Amino acid sequence: MSARIESLLARMTWEQKLMQLQILWRPDTAERGELIRRGMGSTFWPQSATKTNEMQRIAVDETPLGIPLLVALDVLHGQFTIFPTPLAQAASFDPEVAACDARVSAAEARSNGVNWTFSPMVDVVRDARWGRVVESFGEDVYLASTFTVAKVAAYQDEAGASSDGIAACLKHFVAYGAAEAGRDYNTTDLSDRTLRETYLETFRVGVAQGAASVMASFNSLNGHPMHANRALLTGVLKDEWGFNGVVVGDADGVASLVEHGVAIDERAAIAAAFDAGIDVVMGGSPLVGADGVPVIAPEDVSAARVDDAVRRVLRLKERLGLFEQPYVDSSFAAAGSSDRHRAFARLAAERCAVLLTNNGALPLPASGRILLAGPYARSLDHLGAWVQHFATPVGETLADALRTELPDVLWDVADGTDFFETTDAALAEMVERASAADLVVVAVGEPSRISGEASSRADISLPGAQRRLIHALADAGARIVVVLATGRALVVEDWVERVDALLCVWHLGVEAPAAIAATLSGRVNPGGRVPMTFPRAVGQVPIHYDHERTARPPRTGGALLPETIAGFTGPNNTDDYYTSKYLDLPLGPRFDFGHGLSYTTFELDQLTVTRETITARDLPNGVEVFVRARNTGDRDGDVVIMLFVTDEVASLTQPLRRLRGFRRVALAAGESTRVAFPLGADDLAFWGDGAERILEPGDFTITLGDGTSELRTRLRLEES
Ligand code: IFM
Repeated sequence: MSARIESLLARMTWEQKLMQLQILWRPDTAERGELIRRGMGSTFWPQSATKTNEMQRIAVDETPLGIPLLVALDVLHGQFTIFPTPLAQAASFDPEVAACDARVSAAEARSNGVNWTFSPMVDVVRDARWGRVVESFGEDVYLASTFTVAKVAAYQDEAGASSDGIAACLKHFVAYGAAEAGRDYNTTDLSDRTLRETYLETFRVGVAQGAASVMASFNSLNGHPMHANRALLTGVLKDEWGFNGVVVGDADGVASLVEHGVAIDERAAIAAAFDAGIDVVMGGSPLVGADGVPVIAPEDVSAARVDDAVRRVLRLKERLGLFEQPYVDSSFAAAGSSDRHRAFARLAAERCAVLLTNNGALPLPASGRILLAGPYARSLDHLGAWVQHFATPVGETLADALRTELPDVLWDVADGTDFFETTDAALAEMVERASAADLVVVAVGEPSRISGEASSRADISLPGAQRRLIHALADAGARIVVVLATGRALVVEDWVERVDALLCVWHLGVEAPAAIAATLSGRVNPGGRVPMTFPRAVGQVPIHYDHERTARPPRTGGALLPETIAGFTGPNNTDDYYTSKYLDLPLGPRFDFGHGLSYTTFELDQLTVTRETITARDLPNGVEVFVRARNTGDRDGDVVIMLFVTDEVASLTQPLRRLRGFRRVALAAGESTRVAFPLGADDLAFWGDGAERILEPGDFTITLGDGTSELRTRLRLEES
């Protein structure tokens, strides 16, 4: 307990307490100074260090209690220096990429007065229709949890108290990513077990890592809008996990309890939200009106609850060192991006691309004639969703970067087709120009604005004109390399087998063009892996690799139906007919979680476990799984080794397998290394129907894979 906080609390009026529990939503309005004078506790970033300092000065010098402000901003993958989107970062399978982004983001944000970021978004995602998948670390709980820990630790500078750190915010609590039909803000309905196993876990590890705040989500869950969900906000988050940071409502999320139909008016909504465990309200009407009259009275909500919320806010201010130093050195202000930060962003971007297919068309030849076509030939739209207008813009096009990277190639650069529209004449011209080239690089994708918040899509294929462009070039027999910039896993089914190579580059940030050019030339060997399954058709979503077993898995691997039933490709023999499949799709996704190729080849062998039979008593020290990885090709490259566990027989149905370890390793051509993966009790356990982790004796299959091949061994857990 802090003496300063208790002394402040003892002196605060009801109005002053409520003012601490709100974020000034539009810091550029005329009444800004006045609201701060009346004791507003937090504000969105007013867009410059000088303005932030002025607001802090008013808070410190012109209010009776002199409490500094929390200054918030969504710094998701960069403040000025924009890194790859979080989904792209997850594709690196290298948590250091996320940590590097968070360190640079924190330094740039803090030096400009921001001390609280609404990041990371740790929602696990399985439905690419949802636009916000771009902000996530993908579909897998273990991968997303590992990235969550890396990002929180780096934002908060480990201890969360250094002058370089900013407060992280785990969002959106909880199950926002499970929105029905992938439609943003939509309802969710989940069993407790799924909630624990899949959607709560990233938050649990983020809280254990010391995340300073958590944001409630817009969705209702099992009939309880999250802003009024006491069982989860207080019961699980605060009581069970011991979270002592700030729970912030999302924008207008508290007021939206009225729209959800669980509160009669905003006053009732605010009372319900505080009661449920919300500590800070974002948006909506002010908690204290301009006339100084509070929207809620002491009898609307327990005084102890409000005091608890105020304590949490003041504790965060204390933890950030704001009472000692509320101001920032404004000479750093507007410095924007530095060369050093851009160099980090470049390294990060070079680690996130995923080579999805390649029949030898990549890397590009160093000479010859190449046509560069498609909207991303010249588009500068590489930053991705959730970037503010003051972000450092992308300085060169992919065309510029490729000319620098491969100066001996005779480049023909098309003017850049539109993302959505084309004409027959434009397509004919591309075909004509392609006929004079040895190869065509088609740079296509989603513009940034069609992923992110409120950007769900029912059709997740490549937009508009771009499919027509690929088909026209393929019809003409061109050799085609597709560069795919995207905020989500897309359906590429109609054209993927018509192209010679497919490089997925997501939205790689400010250094995207140079990083893509280096990857296309082969100077950088792609080492990313798919963090989110690419479905064959939108009808397969939600889709994820760790699906629970069904009792009727197809066994044939996709025997064809008679040709007379055109378009129906599912199994049709009598043994396999009544199985879980789609009649009109081959089995499985287009690109599974973990898939990714390289310009070199790797082999895994010598898989061993320290002990094949263990008891639960052995598990605190665990067992170790070893595997040798060899670069068997003639180029240096990175291999991603993934360890999956399958619980063969359990009292509840289990996933086909679960990721329980991964490592990205750089191997020179011909080099090999032995990699060890520790396995502990938690790696073999699962959530039961209640809030308990269960460890059951039996056989476990351990699978080690590198995205193209796999090895397996068994581990037996016996009764102690
Ligand atoms: O942090 C965001 C949240 O993710 C969506 N609603 C708005 C908030 C503040 O910008």
